[in-house]
This record gives sequence, structure tokens and C-alpha cells, in this order.
Amino acid sequence: MSDSPAFDLFANDYDVWFSENLDLLQSEVKLIAYAWPGGGEALSVGCGTGLFETILARDHGVQIRHGVEPAEGMAAIATDRGMTVTIGTAEAADLGEATVDILLYNGSTSYIPDLKSAFSKAHRALRPGGHVVVVDVPRESGYGVLYCLANALGTWDDPIFEGVKPDAAYPLPFVQAATWHTTAERIAALEACGFEVLRTAQTLTRHPLNAPHGVEEPKDGHDSGDYVAIVARRA
Ligand SMILES: C[S@@+](CC[C@H](N)C(=O)[O-])C[C@H]1O[C@@H](n2cnc3c(N)ncnc32)[C@H](O)[C@@H]1O
Repeated sequence: MSDSPAFDLFANDYDVWFSENLDLLQSEVKLIAYAWPGGGEALSVGCGTGLFETILARDHGVQIRHGVEPAEGMAAIATDRGMTVTIGTAEAADLGEATVDILLYNGSTSYIPDLKSAFSKAHRALRPGGHVVVVDVPRESGYGVLYCLANALGTWDDPIFEGVKPDAAYPLPFVQAATWHTTAERIAALEACGFEVLRTAQTLTRHPLNAPHGVEEPKDGHDSGDYVAIVARRA
């Protein structure tokens, strides 16, 4: 079992939640496709069930065949979807030295308390000129604040959430397992590990209540998005 047992215990719930939030899924996939830094061999760290990688390949021609994932239940689903998955965490897995061109962290940095230990490993694993794409919910965003509040209250059932939380709120075990970082914290950790941040892009710029309804086109920056991509190059 991984350090985040929620994903071991509730692997199927993860994809079910996205099946109830298809517009949101599409908006997030479009963000990754928009931010994608080009060709080369890619590895997804914390690849989960491989849901995004499958859609990115099918709809956007973005090929990510390999993954690292600590939760065996999630990894089993990704393997069924055709990925080659190594069981391990971003901090402890052997990513090798100069072995890959692009590392994707989609939603996984929220489950990595010590970002610097993960990003220094990433820096070593990338070939010169390689890129990291870090995509996640910023703590300062609408979803981020909502998740911190649900975490503090230990429930989605508090009356304060009436008319505020989306119909299909993110399952509480996944909320509670997270360390919600700000975008500034993610950027600072990347820079401290020798990365040069090239650009940011964002989606889900409406209130969380409305975000699941309607697919949104991504745009540059990270001033209003509840899902933000940071693209950085190994300097
Ligand atoms: C929100 S899910 C994202 C999964 C997948 N990348 C996606 O976008 O569908 C977070 C994932 O990070 C994984 N995870 C938890 N702790 C981790 C760690 N220390 N290193 C890498 N991945 C981790 C979880 O098991 C889970 O699969």
C-alpha cells in the first residue's frame, strides 16, 4: 500500500468521479494538450489509472506510454489501458539519469508533501533540455480553498457548503490525503531544483459550482484558473 492509501482503497471511485464530471475532465485534458512541450519520450509520475494519458493519445496525439504510480489498484487499471507502470512514489522511485524527455505530474503534486525531493529527482531523470509539466489545483484557487475547508471540517455535509460545492464533490478521502500547494510554491520548488519556468496555462476559471458544466478552452497564465499547468525546462 502507498503513502496515500485513499487511492489504493478507492481506485475505482476515481474514474467514476470523472465519469460524473466529463466536461471538467475534457477541460483538464485540453489544458495538458495546450501546455504540452512537444515530442520526445514521456513518463507520467503519479499516473493513476491512465485515464488522462488514454484520452490525450486518442484525442490529441500526445503519447505517454510509461508511468510511475504508488497505488497498485490505480496502476492495475493503467496497465489494462496499455501503459507500462512501475510501482513507486515520485520521491523514491528509480527514475534513472537522463532517461526521458518529458515528465508529467498531473494531479500528483498535491499528494507529494516534499516537492523538492520529487523535483530534484525529476531534474536528474530528464535529458538535457527536457521538460516537466506540472498540472494541479492551486491552494489559492476556488477548488483549493473549498478542499481546505472540507478538510478542516472533515465533511462535505456542513451547511456552509449549501449552494457552494459542486453536485459531485471530489471524494473526501482524496481531499484529505492531499497537501494543497499554491502555484507559487510549485514554481519555487521547481526553480530551487534547477528548472527554468517557461510558461503557465490555466483552465476552470469559473466558480467550482459551475466548472463541471461546459468545456472550457485553456488560456495562458495562472491568475484565475482552478487547474494550472506549469511548464519548466531542465536548465
Ligand atoms: C489526483 S490523482 C491523479 C492521477 C492521474 N495522474 C490523473 O490525472 O488521473 C493523484 C495520484 O497521485 C498518486 N500519488 C500519491 N502519492 C504519490 C507520490 N508520493 N508520488 C507519486 N504519485 C503519488 C496517487 O496514488 C494518485 O494516483
